[in-house]
Amino acid sequence: MTIHIKAFYDKATGTGTYVVHDVLTRQAAVIDPVLHFDSAAGTVGTRLADEQLSYVDTENLQLKYVCDTHAHADHLSAAAYLKAKSGAKTVISKGIGEVQARFSQRFNKPVVADLSTLYDVLVGEGDTLTLGDVAINVIATPGHTSDSTSYLIEDNIFVGDTLFMPDVGTARCDFPGGDAAQLYNSISRIHCLDDNTTIWVCHDYPPSHRKASLHTTVAESRRSNIHVNDNMNESDFIAVRTKRDSSLAVPKLLYPSLQVNLWGAQLPAPEANGTRYIKIPLTTKENANAN
Ligand SMILES: [Fe+2]
Repeated sequence: MTIHIKAFYDKATGTGTYVVHDVLTRQAAVIDPVLHFDSAAGTVGTRLADEQLSYVDTENLQLKYVCDTHAHADHLSAAAYLKAKSGAKTVISKGIGEVQARFSQRFNKPVVADLSTLYDVLVGEGDTLTLGDVAINVIATPGHTSDSTSYLIEDNIFVGDTLFMPDVGTARCDFPGGDAAQLYNSISRIHCLDDNTTIWVCHDYPPSHRKASLHTTVAESRRSNIHVNDNMNESDFIAVRTKRDSSLAVPKLLYPSLQVNLWGAQLPAPEANGTRYIKIPLTTKENANAN
């Protein structure tokens, strides 16, 4: 074993977030960090990110990267916070620009042409980052969102929302830029990996009979994922996914998440009174077709 993985779980958003490190050099990456957000109180919290920082400290690790798997729409990313605290580089798919452009008008926030002003490392299919001698292989896995990316590190793959635990299935594909056929292709690529590859998910919403769990294997996912398994073809999956998507509500933290996560995981700039605001765009008769 040359890497070590420590999983953290945010119960409020059902998010799995990880610290991965190279055992030899102790270089580390955080994957999909969480910034807590209480919309009623208007507060953000860093408890889980701070827990990860103190783990990094205790284990004597050097935090090199903070990687997001995609433009999360159900929790705020703590990437910018962790960068500010540790000097680690933020990493995300270069496809984030396309997602930002889709939502720019909705939030009346500018498209940032030079994404390097928001993120340190913009990755794409086939890119490789390193922790010591350990490779982080970037695999584009669009479908849930157009920028969705998985990180393959030795025999572990961090899939974001490309797959969930087998009894939960897969993530929705009905956000702008989402595509069930693309998701099927992306999952097929993951399911082609060695049977023993461990799949680490970004969310678990466990049924009442079990506790939250954050990892499965390729073999188990292929055998028993309720939405996409070896006994189902692409059209089966698209039918299941589309039907399910038509019944889903808007995620509670959709608007707060997107206006932060698509602009470098940075909180909106303070207004003239020194206060930062999260906006909720209203859909009215006048703008229902415009947005
Ligand atoms: Fe997501």
